[in-house]
Amino acid sequence: MTTFYSLLKHFHLTTIVITATLFVVRGVWMMVDSPRLQARWVRIVPHVNDTLLLASGLGLAFMLGQYPLVNGWLTAKFFALILYIVLGTVALKRGSTKRTRIAAWIAALLVLGYIVTVAITRNPFPFVG
Ligand code: HEM
Repeated sequence: MTTFYSLLKHFHLTTIVITATLFVVRGVWMMVDSPRLQARWVRIVPHVNDTLLLASGLGLAFMLGQYPLVNGWLTAKFFALILYIVLGTVALKRGSTKRTRIAAWIAALLVLGYIVTVAITRNPFPFVG
């Protein structure tokens, strides 16, 4: 494994910790109707981070020679990431009632947990036998 690969992997892991932390914090702000959710940096930083998360994941995939839509675990991660982003926008922006937003927030966190499990096991069905 090259140094660059391991640097990129650490970078990938760092962006994952950042996305999870920001998502939990923003969810709490959503629940207590905090105006901080509308702060300029809060509307920018998560998007920049999530772009870097996706880019570093794709970079690792290419260096490994394993690809979304070819290798099952990366296909699962890729589509689950899209689901996480969609659920995240319902939770923090588009959900019309607080009930919907909280449900979407919990679902997004479960999807994030699924992605981490798939990443570690390299198995798209980590909870099946
Ligand atoms: C929210 C989204 C994501 C999360 C939570 C996530 C999580 C992780 C974690 C925890 C690892 C380390 C696994 C280990 O220690 O063995 C990892 C590795 C990896 N991720 Fe992601 N990832 C995400 C998105 C992506 C995407 C979109 C791609 C590519 C399309 C990707 C490609 C990879 C690759 C190729 C590795 C392998 C590194 C290795 O084991 O050498 N990831 N990811």
